[in-house]
Parts: sequence; C-alpha cells; structure tokens
Amino acid sequence: GGMTIHGFRGELLSVSRDPHHHPDAIRYEPDGLLVVEDGIVVARGDYMTLAGRFPGLAIEHLPGLIVPGFIDAHVHYAQMDHIASHGEQLLDWLDRHIFPAEKAFADRAHADRTASLFLDELLRNGTTSALVFPTVHAHSVDALFDAALDRNMRILSGKILMDMGPEGLADTVDSGRSESDALIRRWRGRGRLGYAVTPRFALTSSDAQLQVAGALLADHPDVLLHTHLAENLRECAAVADRFPAAQDYLDVYDRFGLVGDRSVFAHGVHLSDRACARLAQSGAGIAVCPSSNLFLGSGFFDFGQADAHGVRIGLGTDVGAGTSFSLLHTAGLAYQAALSRHDPLDPFRALYLATAGGAALLHMDDRVGGLEPGQEADFVLLDCAATPLLARRTEHATLADRLFALQILGDDRVIARTYILGQCAWDRQGTAS
Ligand code: GUN
Ligand code: ZN
Repeated sequence: GGMTIHGFRGELLSVSRDPHHHPDAIRYEPDGLLVVEDGIVVARGDYMTLAGRFPGLAIEHLPGLIVPGFIDAHVHYAQMDHIASHGEQLLDWLDRHIFPAEKAFADRAHADRTASLFLDELLRNGTTSALVFPTVHAHSVDALFDAALDRNMRILSGKILMDMGPEGLADTVDSGRSESDALIRRWRGRGRLGYAVTPRFALTSSDAQLQVAGALLADHPDVLLHTHLAENLRECAAVADRFPAAQDYLDVYDRFGLVGDRSVFAHGVHLSDRACARLAQSGAGIAVCPSSNLFLGSGFFDFGQADAHGVRIGLGTDVGAGTSFSLLHTAGLAYQAALSRHDPLDPFRALYLATAGGAALLHMDDRVGGLEPGQEADFVLLDCAATPLLARRTEHATLADRLFALQILGDDRVIARTYILGQCAWDRQGTAS
C-alpha cells in the first residue's frame, strides 16, 4: 500500500495543557525530530536520541520554529470580504454591513468562491482548524465543507439559525430544524469535518427556535453548540429586556438546554460571576476574540474573572469583526486586553490558547493541538526573522521572549509554511505541493 513515513527535523515547541495550571506542559526540543506516518505523528523527541530508531528515514530539515497548527475557535467565513467596515458598534454594524453581505450567499457559486478563498487565507495565516459561522443558507455549509474536504482540513460549522433575522436572511422554526438535521446526516463522518448547531445569538431566534436548537443538541451527541454571548452592552440590555425571567444572558441559553460541555460561546465580555461559575460547572467554554472586541468597541475580556472560576477558553479571530486572520496577532491583542486589567498573559499560555486550548474547546484535542504521538500532523513553520525588526528583536532572545515578539510583532508574514497531515499546504515561497 501507499504507506508514507517522513521525518521533520527542527526546533519543536508545543503546549498541550494550560501552563497556568500545568507549568510542565511546555514541550520544547531545540533540535527535534517529528516522525509522521500517513499524516499521523508516530514519534517525537530529541533528534540525536530518536533518529537511530528510524534508519533510512527521509528527513527534511525545517529552518524555523515548528508549532502546532493554529485553531481559530470563532470566525465567520461569509464576512471575510467585509472586514474593515467603518463606523458602528455591534447591532448597527450587523444591520449596516453584515446582514447585506450575508444575503449574497443565497448564490451557491458566491459561497463556493468565498469558502475557497477563506480556507486559503486560514492556511496563509497558519490556521489549520476552525469553528466557523457560515450564513443562514444550508448550502453555505455545503460550500465550506466541500472546500475543507478538498484541503483535508479539520473544520467545524453548521447553518445559522435566525428565524427572527431581517427580511431575506431569516429561516423558520421548521426549515431551521429540517435543514440542520439534513446537514448533520449528510456530513457526519466525512473527512475531518464536524457539525455545530449555530443559533446566531439570542436576539435573532424565537423561543421556539432556541428550543429546536436544544433538541438538535440532545438528539445528536456528536455535535457542538456555537453562538455569541454577552459581547456588547446594548445587546446585553436588549436580551435582558426580552427575557426578564432569566438570571443573566447565559441563563437564557441554559433555559433552552444550550449550556453544556459541547457549547462554545464567542466573546463573553460582559459576564456575571454567576454566569462564569455556571460555565465552569457545565464545561462550556468561551472563544475569546480580542481583535473583534477592540474593533467593535465591545470591551476587554476579563481573563482574571474567567480564571477565578476555571472557565475553559480558546482564541477566535471573529473576522469580519476581527481585523486579522492571524492567531499570532490575536494572541498579542489578548495580551494587551489582559494587561488592561494588570494581568499580563504569558506567551506560552497564549500559544496554548491558540493551539491545544482551542482544540480542547472544540473537542478535537485527541486529534490535534499538541503535536503528540498519535495526533494528526498539522503544524506551522514560523520564521523569527520574517521582518528586519523581528530578526533584530529575536536574535539573542530567550524562547519566551522570541515567542512573545512573534505574538506582538508577527502575523501572516512569519508563516513560512503550513502543513496539513504532514503535507505542505502553504509555502510563503510559492512552492506548496
Ligand atoms: N452577534 C450576532 N451576530 C454576530 C456577528 O456576526 N458578529 C459578531 N461579532 N457578533 C455577533
Ligand atoms: Zn462572531
């Protein structure tokens, strides 16, 4: 058969558990060997120690820092062409810029073109997996999943449920349920894909549709729940207004069976301590999106509050409200958001959040995120000398300082190569296979 085994020699770094709680989780080999067989890591360690076990192994030397592929825990593919739209906070920005943009996805060909460009942009930025908002149109999921299958990428998505959305962009309780059910059945077990039941947020679904979302989640133990939570103060006030009986915004979702260990909530900028305690107890997590929170004037995520309660977190770009596809750049902004509360984010923890932390949040940490033996070989080659300034800043720096400089100064320019299942899927030099 076509068994292929291949070695990659280089500087290896991964953080497979939260170093905030597990300081020994940082795994670093200055001269490491990664052995990949049919896309799976079969061995990893110090080159000198390990190489003798694989006589005759074809070894490729990768100059740069090798880290696991980045995982974007919250991003909207249909918004990519409307990134950098000027002037408004969340609710007005949605009405003015985003809902019109999403209406264009009624055209399947437009969805196909955008999905391809989107996944290529992820690869250019070192992102190998993502939890993705498409649009209300069922075929917007087909377009994304077809493009992800072509690229062998581990991608999660599900059609948006929004029966109270604007004219021309709303489904119904019945169509939302039947189309979600059909998509789950159509895509189950294919490639590296997974489904997420995706009510847009509390304000765009009727009570009956939120109930349907809960029923879909209960019926399908392999799917996630993906929505937005407590992003913007006007949004929070409107939710409190509509659901006066709920204890807080999270409790609205809880009342419909939407809060559990498979739930991923984007933002959580404005959370009560009660909500944080409930998130931690349920195992639900937050996709923290600092770039978006700055762009829409939403506020700063409170890492200290989340940590005090033990809330699971990952990092999301939230493009098109986010202004960059780079999780390195997003990690740098997370540092700045945390520092605004005098709580500097450690660069190794930031790397964890962008890799294994996101994988855990998305329930794919058995497959990706740590470059551990048995996991899939999705990884990125980082160039610490990508710009003259980065080269100077990192030349004699410690590993921690180099990693921090990559997060503060780096972006797509430092992604020299991106590998999917051990195959080069993006090469900055333009020689990708
Ligand atoms: N809340 C509801 N929909 C959206 C969206 O498309 N983007 C963001 N950032 N927040 C939302
Ligand atoms: Zn979003």
